[in-house]
Amino acid sequence: MEQMNLNDATETLRQYKEYIFPSVIPFYDDHPLIVARAKNGYLWDVQGNRYLDFFGGVLTVSVGHCNDEVTDRTVEQLKKVQHTSTLYINELMVRLARKIAVLTPGRLKKCFFTSSGSEANETAILAARMYTGHTDVITLRHAYAGRTMTGMSLTGQGSWRLGGVFDGHIKHVRNPYTYRAPAGLDEEKLLDLCVQDLEESLSAITNGKIAAFMAESIQGVGGFIVLPKDYFKRILPIVREAEGVFICDEVQTGWGRTGTHLCGIEHWGVEPDIMTFAKGMANGSPIGCTIATPEIADAVKGLTFATFGGNPVTMAAALATIEYIEKHNLPENAAIQGALLRNYLEDLKKQHDFIGEARGMGLMQAIEIVEPGTDKRPDATRTKEIINKAREHGLLIGKGGLYGNVVRIAPHLNVTGKEIHDGCDRFARALAEMG
Ligand SMILES: Cc1ncc(COP(=O)(O)O)c(C=O)c1O
Repeated sequence: MEQMNLNDATETLRQYKEYIFPSVIPFYDDHPLIVARAKNGYLWDVQGNRYLDFFGGVLTVSVGHCNDEVTDRTVEQLKKVQHTSTLYINELMVRLARKIAVLTPGRLKKCFFTSSGSEANETAILAARMYTGHTDVITLRHAYAGRTMTGMSLTGQGSWRLGGVFDGHIKHVRNPYTYRAPAGLDEEKLLDLCVQDLEESLSAITNGKIAAFMAESIQGVGGFIVLPKDYFKRILPIVREAEGVFICDEVQTGWGRTGTHLCGIEHWGVEPDIMTFAKGMANGSPIGCTIATPEIADAVKGLTFATFGGNPVTMAAALATIEYIEKHNLPENAAIQGALLRNYLEDLKKQHDFIGEARGMGLMQAIEIVEPGTDKRPDATRTKEIINKAREHGLLIGKGGLYGNVVRIAPHLNVTGKEIHDGCDRFARALAEMG
């Protein structure tokens, strides 16, 4: 493969800084990775270095880079017809919608397609408000829901809320963050506190009626915070009493990521009224999908339209991705390989006192980095060093959490046991060099 010389790479970086908004910050400070190509679990930079990719473009490359089956079907469609808009009907959109309706839990049935998770969440909030006739929305403090105005308003983490103007009808309640629960509270008492906070919020900052309660079952950008197993069962009766619908954001957790089930929320045994998907649903093609029960979808009356929603090429990519996930039983693989990965992380936690917690489900695993000898004080500096060190060992992993102190590890769903062992060996060597 032809490699870019150092001067070209330096020039690319210089022009990146000149022509791209500075808020779009790549990893690795002054040495960002400039991508040359990628295949299956691996990615190469322009200097020819090969990396095992355990972050998959932020949990988006779900079945491996340039997966042959997905790529072939996407290219085939690209040559047939690329774009028509929803003014005409394309059969792939109908096929995909039907498939999603069959595969998602409960009574979810009608889809609205867009191009991103942010738009999927916008659509969900719109639908909930039009269906219920209420405006207030409740969500969680460590939530991340996108970068549109509604997305940022739904996001509970201050660092991702830009511009200063937000939807004042979106309110954030206490997060069931078990690792950082107030001292002395076990999981059950934390849930009591969350219930109490929700009830107080409903009476203090809403008129008692809400359009929706929205949450991710595992908070992605929040640092893979797994919500306690009884959380939704405790919260949802109160939400329904306030006439709100339950919107589940499956942008990170969807399509087998959490192991065993296709949707993360299925582990909690509750049924959402609206669900949103994006990221891993089309293995890298831009997609957003909002699925709702028929009566909620039918309540969205009037004109609304997304130019690229239902684009035939994206629909082909999504159908190919989902069929690949089904054919290879990847939710099961995610459970098996995720358990292996988690064992490694638990072992590493025993060896390094800066690892406060290992957590996650399936192939969505994380470690939280803290300053040893303190009361779980977050260590964002060390977290960054760990990410950098892993790269030196040929491993790409992610970062997250409100305090920037969570290492996020999310390999492709068809990762092999051999790749998990290899990745974890690299990670162990990187941590051993941390001092
Ligand atoms: C849970 C969740 N919801 C929504 C979004 C927004 O998706 P997008 O970046 O495609 O707009 C993200 C993005 O990271 C996400 O993690």
